[in-house]
Amino acid sequence: MSAQRQTPWMTQDDFWDDANEPQDRIRRPRKKPAGRRALADLTAEDSDLQDDIIRRLKDLGHITEVVAELKSGKEATAYVARGPRGSVLLKLYRDLEARSFKNDAVYRAGQVILDARAKRAMEGRTRKGLAMLQEGWVNAEYAHLWQLWHAGLPVPEPLVGPHPFEYAQTTPAVLMRLIGTEDQIAPRLSDAALSPQQAQSAWDQSVRGMADLLRLGYAHGDYSTYNLLWWEDTVTIIDFPQLTTRQNPHFHDLLARDAQSLVTSFRKHGIQADAQSTLREVQRRALGPAPTPRLLLP
Ligand SMILES: Nc1ncnc2c1ncn2[C@@H]1O[C@H](COP(=O)(O)OP(=O)(O)O)[C@@H](O)[C@H]1O
Ligand SMILES: [Mg+2]
Repeated sequence: MSAQRQTPWMTQDDFWDDANEPQDRIRRPRKKPAGRRALADLTAEDSDLQDDIIRRLKDLGHITEVVAELKSGKEATAYVARGPRGSVLLKLYRDLEARSFKNDAVYRAGQVILDARAKRAMEGRTRKGLAMLQEGWVNAEYAHLWQLWHAGLPVPEPLVGPHPFEYAQTTPAVLMRLIGTEDQIAPRLSDAALSPQQAQSAWDQSVRGMADLLRLGYAHGDYSTYNLLWWEDTVTIIDFPQLTTRQNPHFHDLLARDAQSLVTSFRKHGIQADAQSTLREVQRRALGPAPTPRLLLP
């Protein structure tokens, strides 16, 4: 990665941790087996909390059973579940101490919080404030998924909503359609083995995806092959809680960082691109035609 430009907000200790993630992760030896942990292996403390949430999701009729844990990340644990409309990816946000909440200030910069008490609680990181932040992330992920899905972007279909009243009931879980099948879950592009032609197509789709987001006024905020799935030669963009708008004073920096992460993470697929020209290409395509919107069913 080329030397990153220093801006005042970059000096926050942990903000750039995420930016460096792709390279770090590439170096990390691949664990075997690649992900699925049996539910029985969860710790007792984990499972108490998760049992409650899963029971609630079943009571609400959103899922019938949880099949397996797919991946435990720093912000959330992903499960494969079954629901009335097929296979579900259940993203369960971690408890309040999650590291991501330390980083969220950069993404939330420029947001206006009208409720002064809520603002103080969040800033003071009281338990209540952290709970509000967590709820904010879950609701933001649903709201973004719905908007992007309706706009025709390649994102997983959200399975609860579209009304916030409906999805607020599933906090701290986000339910969306599973990409792939229960037996063969779509890999992330970071883990996929691609032929040169597939790599070129994946790159092209990823650049287009970033342009589609920008056309709607968004920077993803964590755009790399770690948040792009590969299934049947098609790229699906995931992981939206930190989507950022132009209101954010760091918008352009986040966009530039996304371009850099994308370029860096695609190197292992043999794509040699330059971050600045990629960003220019994204900006150029953002002025072009939008994808066809998906219509709401009556
Ligand atoms: N709709 C989906 N279908 C299949 N797998 C998914 C889907 N959404 C997420 N995943 C898997 O779950 C993992 C975690 O999801 P993600 O939204 O990236 O959360 P985080 O990175 O915060 O842990 C992803 O890396 C991916 O492997
Ligand atoms: Mg992710």
